[in-house]
Amino acid sequence: MKVNQSEFVISAVQPSQYPIDALPEVALAGRSNVGKSSLINKMINRKNLARTSSQPGKTQTLNYYRINQDLYFVDLPGYGYAKVSKTERARWGVFIDRYLREREELKLVMQLVDLRHPPSKDDQAMYEWLCANDIPRIVIATKADKIPKGKWQKHAKIVRETLGMDKGETLILFSSELGLGKDELWSYIEQKIGY
Ligand code: GTP
Ligand code: MG
Repeated sequence: MKVNQSEFVISAVQPSQYPIDALPEVALAGRSNVGKSSLINKMINRKNLARTSSQPGKTQTLNYYRINQDLYFVDLPGYGYAKVSKTERARWGVFIDRYLREREELKLVMQLVDLRHPPSKDDQAMYEWLCANDIPRIVIATKADKIPKGKWQKHAKIVRETLGMDKGETLILFSSELGLGKDELWSYIEQKIGY
């Protein structure tokens, strides 16, 4: 997809704020700091439209970014951030859970994990939940530039095994620094949204 226009639309804290123009939505899930905002910026060639931070837990709402008149990226709050209170985490949980299960416009969830480490318990639970709820998903292993290229396949295998991914499930290696995985991911998204 050629991105001609991208803009931040809204930080939604309740469903009444979701856009009503029925464009397909592609959501990003993953623990805090895994690189969700960086991936959005890379995909749309913008430096800092989606706010990135070395301080985890910054994104606490559903942040909608419109790409051309073609789709939205929906940046979800990062899970597994210990410093947020339990009640607050539970509240987000219900909100996001409903969005993921009920939002008709949602065509794909991109679940981000860090290629350097085996997926965490939270990552595993998230992936299992997506599978159990039959939500279209793709796993993206980020920060590939932080390990030597010769180790990518070994790490990819560990990610697949730890999450229990079936053969037919897609895993894309990604790097916001290198642009690795960008074209492959766009092709996958285009196919999912019927572009
Ligand atoms: P929250 O909004 O807190 O949930 O985090 P996030 O998942 O949006 O992470 P974000 O994109 O803000 O990135 C966190 C940190 O990781 C930043 O310092 C980024 O620069 C860095 N980062 C993200 N992706 C990559 C990558 O592919 N390679 C490298 N080297 N650093 C990355
Ligand atoms: Mg973010």
